[in-house]
Amino acid sequence: MNFQGKDIISMNDLTREEIDHILAKVDQVRNLPEKGRLCAGKVCAMMFFEPSTRTRTSFEVAMRNLGGEVGGFYDRKITSAEKDESLWDTVKMHDGYGFNVIVIRHPLKGAARLAAEAAEIPVINAGDGPNQHPTQTLLDLYSLQETQGRIDGLTIAMVGDLANGRTVHSMTEALLKYTDCRMIFISPRDLAMPRFLIDKCRKVGAQRNITVEEGSRIEDYISEVDVLYMTRIQVERLEERMAVVEKLRSIYRLEAGMLRNARPTMKVMHPLPRVTEIAPDVDATPHAYYFEQARNGLFVRETLLALILGAVQ
Ligand code: CP
Repeated sequence: MNFQGKDIISMNDLTREEIDHILAKVDQVRNLPEKGRLCAGKVCAMMFFEPSTRTRTSFEVAMRNLGGEVGGFYDRKITSAEKDESLWDTVKMHDGYGFNVIVIRHPLKGAARLAAEAAEIPVINAGDGPNQHPTQTLLDLYSLQETQGRIDGLTIAMVGDLANGRTVHSMTEALLKYTDCRMIFISPRDLAMPRFLIDKCRKVGAQRNITVEEGSRIEDYISEVDVLYMTRIQVERLEERMAVVEKLRSIYRLEAGMLRNARPTMKVMHPLPRVTEIAPDVDATPHAYYFEQARNGLFVRETLLALILGAVQ
């Protein structure tokens, strides 16, 4: 399987075989004695039009761990986008300066796809508005395998702002490539999973023994799930509805006491950053996995860069 030069824009673009291949490569790349030379001479352009801690930092460290370098920007205010330069032209410039791969985060759905059309070099979507965050999903899938030993057959509850959370959209699309999963979407009605994704789950899921349910209370499902995937309310996409946000924050909050009846192997995951949706007392329980999950992002992104830059196959 050859990923050299491949864009990573949406989980829809990857087959199950390709996803499994990437996940299987992670442990191999992570431990390669020659890892520090795999991408020597290669440079990654970081084009971040939105804030980021984990995605930005882990891509940077991943590139350096592979012997490569990074350039680019992390704040649109220091770019000529502030002078109304188009995304197309901004990408074209980075494409022509000798970079080997672009990692882009942008507030608009479809921006990463547009960047991939503008660029000759491969483009990795680091989050495009409420749409997709495929590298987060790859590290989430790796974390499912790490903690549960499998992905097929899992019961996963996704909780919070399912309308605007790109990580849960990517995750849902990915799980539809597996079999026998039970997906439970827990959110207030205002922030429910988009209808088109529920419809897709029902249609595609029927062929794969995948079921979907919608609920509104975390407590109703805690004892039944393998993974509780918490998400934050995406305030940056709900600016004019702050009153709703405050109300939801108090309702969608996981506390350690609520985990009394959880399965011993149940893990709480979260793409982070968390705000109020996971109380600090959950961190000390054996169910908390979000910091390990974030660390897995480094290993998954190293592998992805090595594959796309042709350093491994
Ligand atoms: N999970 C995630 O994308 O985190 P950052 O926004 O900090 O990159």
